[in-house]
Amino acid sequence: MTRKIALINFKGGTGKSTSAVSLGHGLAQRGYKTLLVDCDPQSAVLKSLGGNPSKNLYHLLVDEATAEECIVESRPNLDVIFSDFILQAVESHPKVQIARERILKRRLSPIVKRYDYILLDCPPEPNIFNLNSIFFAEELFLPVSLDYLSVSGVADILKHLDFIKDQLELSSHIALVIPTFYSAREKKSQRYLGVLKEHFGELVAEPIRKNVRLAEAAEKKQTIFEAFPHSHGAEDYAKLVERVINYDGKK
Ligand SMILES: Nc1ncnc2c1ncn2[C@@H]1O[C@H](COP(=O)(O)OP(=O)(O)OP(=O)(O)O)[C@@H](O)[C@H]1O
Ligand SMILES: [Mg+2]
Repeated sequence: MTRKIALINFKGGTGKSTSAVSLGHGLAQRGYKTLLVDCDPQSAVLKSLGGNPSKNLYHLLVDEATAEECIVESRPNLDVIFSDFILQAVESHPKVQIARERILKRRLSPIVKRYDYILLDCPPEPNIFNLNSIFFAEELFLPVSLDYLSVSGVADILKHLDFIKDQLELSSHIALVIPTFYSAREKKSQRYLGVLKEHFGELVAEPIRKNVRLAEAAEKKQTIFEAFPHSHGAEDYAKLVERVINYDGKK
């Protein structure tokens, strides 16, 4: 069974893209056939992994290319559908008006079974790309940075999910909360980690520590496992990979 996972949070800069890329490569390195889809016109995945794709998510969504034509083999076992700023034009494209929240699901359906994991990196605001990701995914992973605005913003995303669930048939659920930017020296890190655990209990993963190597790896267009395999970032994301593999994704 393919596990379909969206990394989502409407707050910016909480580690969604870093988690998507690190998790994607970690799963691929362990032999799982993985597809990473960049659903954000900011194209952080392309900026972090490098590549020169001729077709991207825009072409897939507006029906100008098949999923196969948009997939790039980025690393062994790690395929990617990239995005770029053109993706924004999808919102107003005439082909993307009917059942617009289900387009990604429909367009990816021919290739889903080839993969053990499909990960979606989502943009930081509720829009058509987030809606499509929430519809396609079964599991929602929520990277939350351990600060006041990010932790208090979690309520917004829960409200938004309830709102969508009320109107449309939705099978995705929050399967994992990933605390990010953890610092053992900062009291607020412990405090906000406690708040998340109170609310989400066992769904809270071990925190990802603040680690400048994660940004440096992206600058080199390498994953943390390639650029700094002995860093805290690599250690923490390796643990997250194990947790994801060992959890079956059920409700
Ligand atoms: N644990 C961490 N420690 C230090 N820096 C980090 C960590 N995680 C991510 N970063 C850096 O913080 C910035 C934001 O991270 P990232 O792009 O993953 O967040 P995002 O949630 O995808 O942001 P956006 O909402 O803009 O899509 C990046 O420069 C990234 O390299
Ligand atoms: Mg991002």
